Amino acid sequence: MAPSADNAIINNNKYNASVKTNFNINCVSDHDFGTQRELLPPAKVAKEMIGAALQKHIGAVNPSECEPGDEDAFFVADIGEVYRQHMRWKNNLPRVTPHYAIKCNPDPVVLRLLATLGAGFDCASKAEIEQVLKIGVDPSRIIYAQPCKTKSYMRYTAKQNVKQMTFDNTDELYKVKELCPDAELYLRILTDDSASLCRLSQKFGASMETTQELLELAKELDLNIAGVAFHVGSGATDSSAFVQAVTDARDVFDRAIDLGFSPHTLDIGGGFVSETFEFTASVLNVALEQHIPSSIRIIAEPGRYYTSSAFTLACNVIARRTVEDKQTGEKSYMLYLNDGVYGNFSSIIFDHQHPVPQILSTRRKQNNYNYALADLSRSTDSLLDSGYTSATEDQHELASGGGKEIEYSIWGPTCDGIDCISESWKSGQTVDVGDWLYFEEMGAYTKCSATRFNGFTDKHETVYVSSEVGASAVLGF
Ligand SMILES: Cc1ncc(COP(=O)(O)O)c(C=O)c1O
Repeated sequence: MAPSADNAIINNNKYNASVKTNFNINCVSDHDFGTQRELLPPAKVAKEMIGAALQKHIGAVNPSECEPGDEDAFFVADIGEVYRQHMRWKNNLPRVTPHYAIKCNPDPVVLRLLATLGAGFDCASKAEIEQVLKIGVDPSRIIYAQPCKTKSYMRYTAKQNVKQMTFDNTDELYKVKELCPDAELYLRILTDDSASLCRLSQKFGASMETTQELLELAKELDLNIAGVAFHVGSGATDSSAFVQAVTDARDVFDRAIDLGFSPHTLDIGGGFVSETFEFTASVLNVALEQHIPSSIRIIAEPGRYYTSSAFTLACNVIARRTVEDKQTGEKSYMLYLNDGVYGNFSSIIFDHQHPVPQILSTRRKQNNYNYALADLSRSTDSLLDSGYTSATEDQHELASGGGKEIEYSIWGPTCDGIDCISESWKSGQTVDVGDWLYFEEMGAYTKCSATRFNGFTDKHETVYVSSEVGASAVLGF
């Protein structure tokens, strides 16, 4: 039997960690880790908690005997990481109120945490707006950030009193006039998104040459221009795109004021990535200081920044194919996992990601457990002294074998040849059917774009841990 949400409390002997039922899901609380956690830096506490949750879940599953689906892939979400990202945001961009882009990961616990911490929300559909309203968020904290909206959704937003919305073309203005005449409109302008992972400007954004015409039509239709919006593309790597967009936005503000509007808010969109966040924020702060008066409210629509690093995905190896090179006699292996590009690895197709496998446990060492040891170079902190079983046995094996690594390709469970997670991955360890691999950084544009192709599930369980006392307090973990 897989661990179920009905488990009330299960003890982990090392930390006496409790797994509690909460939000109808399993949660591991930082309080439950006792005093040890206070001695450890946050990244290490987080690793240990994630590791314990992974271990507990897979420890309860025996792929050789379990019921269909018990060995399904599952997430461990460290809600403390989302909390840390929020505090980091507030420290680095104090003028900017984040409106979390829920498209990136509409996880209910993430939404609840961010709602309680005072964030707003960027929604792009009726279902997203509904989900946020249902958790008690005031409609004034929602922006319907979709410049080309569905008419029936617009009728819904008008009823729900969600007023903030973006537009970027004349046809949309006529729709707004008809369906949401009281809307607070943000003119979304075009940006240079050439250095971004996911480009959006071929689809959305008014060119600077068309902004005057759009503002004049809004005036003619007696609509309310509340501000200017932009998005430099998801996964932005060039902070000068933000600077140019802020400069352009200022130009549109001035034009709107000249026409008699009173725009009050600038929406600087998403595109933020954790790795470059401090640098981007410092460049942005200078541009905002220079071009945007302090009377103007500033909001943003970050998505991946908040959740990417908070979610770890564990997958089971369901099949293996041995491939022998006839000339050299060398063996490599094709590993088939129970999740792939039609599932949570949809980020490979839609979000240009390259998830990196790491070994969680191998059947041969059934009681051993290997979280974060397989590739220490990627880990923020070594877990060699964390109490989890070391991989020394395998390292000895590797050394005696002349240090030769084994080559694997990694595939998803569907019948489609495109369903490839990694064409080549090398490890010193032997991986076989029933073993578990894990992938970090799986919190953005993964589960939300998973399908049920071939009859596989898109409802993978999430086990929640909290490595921050603040997050635990907010959520009552
Ligand atoms: C309008 C809008 N806002 C916000 C986002 C979130 O972007 P990111 O995840 O890069 O922060 C997106 C992503 O596509 C978007 O289209």
